[in-house]
Amino acid sequence: MKILITGGAGFIGSAVVRHVINNTKGSVINVDKLTYAGNLESLSDIESDGRYSFERVDICDRVELDRIFAEHQPDAVMHLAAESHVDRSIDGPAAFIETNIVGTYTLLEATRSYWNTLSETAKQAFRFHHISTDEVYGDLEGTDDLFTETTSYEPSSPYSASKASSDHLVRAWLRTYGLPTIVTNCSNNYGPYHFPEKLIPLMILNAMSGKALPVYGDGMQIRDWLFVEDHARALYKVVKEGEVGETYNIGGHNEKANIEVVKTICSLLEELEPTKPEGVAHYQDLITYVTDRPGHDVRYAIDASKIERELGWTPEETFESGIRKTVEWYLNNKEWWSRVLDGSYAGERLGVNK
Ligand SMILES: NC(=O)c1ccc[n+]([C@@H]2O[C@H](COP(=O)([O-])OP(=O)(O)OC[C@H]3O[C@@H](n4cnc5c(N)ncnc54)[C@H](O)[C@@H]3O)[C@@H](O)[C@H]2O)c1
Repeated sequence: MKILITGGAGFIGSAVVRHVINNTKGSVINVDKLTYAGNLESLSDIESDGRYSFERVDICDRVELDRIFAEHQPDAVMHLAAESHVDRSIDGPAAFIETNIVGTYTLLEATRSYWNTLSETAKQAFRFHHISTDEVYGDLEGTDDLFTETTSYEPSSPYSASKASSDHLVRAWLRTYGLPTIVTNCSNNYGPYHFPEKLIPLMILNAMSGKALPVYGDGMQIRDWLFVEDHARALYKVVKEGEVGETYNIGGHNEKANIEVVKTICSLLEELEPTKPEGVAHYQDLITYVTDRPGHDVRYAIDASKIERELGWTPEETFESGIRKTVEWYLNNKEWWSRVLDGSYAGERLGVNK
C-alpha cells in the first residue's frame, strides 16, 4: 500500500511513518508544511529508506497537492496534518481555521479529483482516513459516561471546534461524492518525540532542569492516555481493514487526573534520575498550581470497544509501562529534545512559520 500521510513530521504522524516503514511493506509520501511542530529529526531512522519520500507542502496549496497525487499515485491518504495545541488555539485561532478546516477541505477536493481518475476497482479500494480527536465530543463532567462513536459533538475550544468541522467535511465528502472515507477519534497521546509544549514532555524536561511544573487549576482534569505507538498500530489497522463510512474511537483505557500524571513522572524520575538539579530535594516539590485554561474540559473518557471488537485492536502498553518507556526515552534522547528547546531542529524556518 502506498500511503500519502499528511503531518508525517509531527508527533503522531512520525510514529505512523516509522510504523509503516519499519513494520510493513508499504511506502509513504510524507506531506508536511513543517510548522514549528514538524520535526524531520523524528524520522532520521527511516528517512533513507527507498519506500519513504518527503514533500514540504502546505495542505492548503491545491496546485501542489494535485502535483503530488499525479506524481505519486497513492492508494490511500492518512490525514494527520493539523494545528493541534489547545493553548495556541486560544491565543491565535486563525491558523487552526486555516489548516484544520480550509486545509482539510482542500485536501478532500484534491483527493476527490485524483480519485475520479482511478479505475472502478482502484476507486473502491482507495481510502481517505481522517485522524481526529475525542475533544470533538466536549467533556464528561464527573460522570461514569464514556464517549462512543455516536456521542453528539460539543467542542469547547477553537482547536476542537476546528477538528469537529473537519470531521463533518470528511463525512459529507463520502455522503455527497462517494469518496471512501473513514474517521478515527482518539484520546490524548503520549510517548517518544512529543513536542515539549505538551503536558507530559513539558513536565519531564522541566523537572530534569529544576524548573517549576505548572499544573492548571487543581490538576483534577481527567484524560484518557494512549501510548503513541499503540495509536500508530491502530491507525494502520483502520486504513487497511476499516469499513468505509465508519468511525472508530481509539483509547487506552487509562483515565488519569493531570496531577496524578505529573506525580507519576516525578516518582519515575526519583528512581531513574536520582541526581537532581541543584536545590531540588524532591521532584514533586517543583509542582506549582497555575490559573486554569479558559473553557478547560473536565473529563474525557473513551469507549474503544468498537475497534477492539471489529478490528481486533487493543493497546499493548498500560499507562504504567508506557509512561516508564517515555521517561526513559527523554532521559536517553537529550540530543533530540535539546535541539527542539534551542530551536536548532527547525534550521532557518522557525522565524517564518512560528
Ligand atoms: N496529540 C494528541 O494527543 C492527539 C490526540 C487525538 C488526535 N490527534 C490528532 O492527530 C493529528 C496529529 O497530531 P499531533 O499531535 O501529531 O500534531 P503535531 O502538532 O505534533 O503535528 C502536526 C503536523 O502537521 C504539520 N502541519 C501543520 N499545518 C500544516 C499544513 N497546513 N500543511 C501541511 N502540514 C501541516 C506540522 O508541520 C506537523 O508536522 C492531528 O490531526 C490531531 O488533531 C492528536
